Amino acid sequence: MSVIVITGGSRGIGASTAELCARRGMGVILTYKSNADAASSVVQRIQAAGGKAVALELDVADVSRFGHFRETVQLTLQETWGVATLDGLVNNAGHGVFNPLESVTEAQFDGLLNVHLKGPFFLTQALLPLMGEGASIVNLTSATTRVATAGVAPYAAFKGGLDVLTRYMAKEFGPRRIRANAVSPGAIRTELGGGLNDEFEAMLAAQTALGRVGEPQDVADVIAMLLSEEGRWINAQTIEVAGGYCI
Ligand SMILES: NC(=O)c1ccc[n+]([C@@H]2O[C@H](COP(=O)([O-])OP(=O)(O)OC[C@H]3O[C@@H](n4cnc5c(N)ncnc54)[C@H](OP(=O)(O)O)[C@@H]3O)[C@@H](O)[C@H]2O)c1
Repeated sequence: MSVIVITGGSRGIGASTAELCARRGMGVILTYKSNADAASSVVQRIQAAGGKAVALELDVADVSRFGHFRETVQLTLQETWGVATLDGLVNNAGHGVFNPLESVTEAQFDGLLNVHLKGPFFLTQALLPLMGEGASIVNLTSATTRVATAGVAPYAAFKGGLDVLTRYMAKEFGPRRIRANAVSPGAIRTELGGGLNDEFEAMLAAQTALGRVGEPQDVADVIAMLLSEEGRWINAQTIEVAGGYCI
């Protein structure tokens, strides 16, 4: 059985991806930062549907804990699924900060850097020894890397860095037959950055060719494809999943 790790699997895109992957027969280790109840609800829904999942606490901004996290994942793989290797990693956890460039604080900058670039870099490095041949890495970036959106400069810059990092992962892990791709969502209905109000949603829908904002499931479908056999020949790509945003 394939087993994957999804960071930030307690809510939004991560939760939707966890449930979909479990329905497709994958074992899921999902992480949360502070919302243990939401994470355990996702695990319960997966179990009720006949799947298997485990929720683990992880702050992706705290690199010092990644060695311990790898040991916990290794133990969980063995105890829950009787396997030694991981088949996928989704670097999904994230938060948003809206602030014009001229007033972004160093703490906001560092917080976004740690979660959206440094965290995925060192978490992938930490979990690499557990990844088997044919494993798939999916990094969540953002359509804000293509369309400059006032108020999210550092977030978009670090997501752009993650796009570049994705290609380096694909290059360096290719000899082990590990693929790496990025999924770049447009505006998706989640709680990121405080979520969408009606006015904001209407504006984003009007900027989208298909006339609506996205749902977490719209993104989960693409992530699940990249994690599975259907995605076997897709490598080093960024796939925008945005319904035709600002085209
Ligand atoms: N929604 C959008 O419009 C959109 C657009 C482009 C890209 N994205 C990207 O898609 C990914 C998922 O976003 P989402 O919209 O699903 O967000 P969300 O609904 O706000 O969920 C965020 C998830 O990340 C976790 N998380 C937050 N900070 C963390 C940290 N420091 N360490 C570990 N986990 C942390 C949260 O855990 P807790 O529940 O414990 O807090 C939660 O599970 C993010 O990388 C985001 O940047 C989203």
